Amino acid sequence: MSAPVIEVRRLTRRFGDFTAVDAVEFEVQPGEIFGYLGANGAGKSTTIRMLCGLLAPTEGHATVAGHDIARDPRAVKRAIGYMSQKFSLYLDLTPTENLSFFAGAYGLQGAERRRRVEAALVESELTERRDTLTRDLPGGVRQRLALVSARLHRPQVLFLDEPTAGVAPDARRAFWREIRALARAGTTLFVTTHHLDEAEFCGRVGLMVDGRLVALDTPDGLKKAHVPGVFLSVFAQGGDLREALRGVDGVLGLQPFGRRLRVRMAADAPLAGPEALAAHLRARGIDGVEVERGDASLEDVFLELVRRSEKQEA
Ligand SMILES: Nc1ncnc2c1ncn2[C@@H]1O[C@H](COP(=O)(O)OP(=O)(O)O)[C@@H](O)[C@H]1O
Ligand SMILES: [Mg+2]
Repeated sequence: MSAPVIEVRRLTRRFGDFTAVDAVEFEVQPGEIFGYLGANGAGKSTTIRMLCGLLAPTEGHATVAGHDIARDPRAVKRAIGYMSQKFSLYLDLTPTENLSFFAGAYGLQGAERRRRVEAALVESELTERRDTLTRDLPGGVRQRLALVSARLHRPQVLFLDEPTAGVAPDARRAFWREIRALARAGTTLFVTTHHLDEAEFCGRVGLMVDGRLVALDTPDGLKKAHVPGVFLSVFAQGGDLREALRGVDGVLGLQPFGRRLRVRMAADAPLAGPEALAAHLRARGIDGVEVERGDASLEDVFLELVRRSEKQEA
């Protein structure tokens, strides 16, 4: 296995006596899409800013592309691309001007600078809007421009902080297609999001709760470890479903989902199948029962882990 591109050891950042990032540890491999998830205030942006050499850690260590973030933040900045949570684009400049500005900031000059700017406009399909003010571009287009701006100097690592916040669903999907293509071509991606559906596109996902990394695995690994069992989605015309499920062996959790109730059940429970559960509910007098097999989602994992960490604190 090759050396990790990002190595993080007990990385900590305090603001006064408040700990925003608390002894976080992980590694990211070349070409991996690493998702960093958590609610607002969990410590995602603070972690990214430390890893980009923009904010000094209070304690702990990290290297990015072989450079120590505390000892050599300038080398880190050269090796990475960073798309900040608040867009770094200048709204009263055109795409051409924004790209030219970033190219200069990354040390590209003269013909090479012009060549990269042209290539970026073509690559992000912005040639027709090259002279439109950035503020007049739709969110998804601005997104593409911000991404291509962060990549002008061909960094081996890209840090994207909530790149799809406020972007329409179809533009989000297009954006993720691009992220995956970049990873296939060898770029390492560190992406924060609070869209849990997007985390499914990540190779591995780290979950942050109150500054702590409470779980880290592949999306499937997280589901198996934290919300094991079978998910059954139950619909009924009439009757008290919760009451009818009382005392049923192996029920691990109930969660309303629109007009349905999602039931999580131990895989070896007697009623852990759509037909068996439907028959039981009919026998308990529930009308118009439909039961379908469902899937665990990262939302389930997240809720479970947040609940667990709140319980620990109580
Ligand atoms: N410069 C700062 N001074 C004081 N507190 C900060 C500063 N930056 C972030 N914080 C606090 O640290 C916590 C984590 O923030 P942040 O990393 O931005 O979270 P996230 O990106 O997950 O929403 C928040 O409670 C935030 O208010
Ligand atoms: Mg943030």
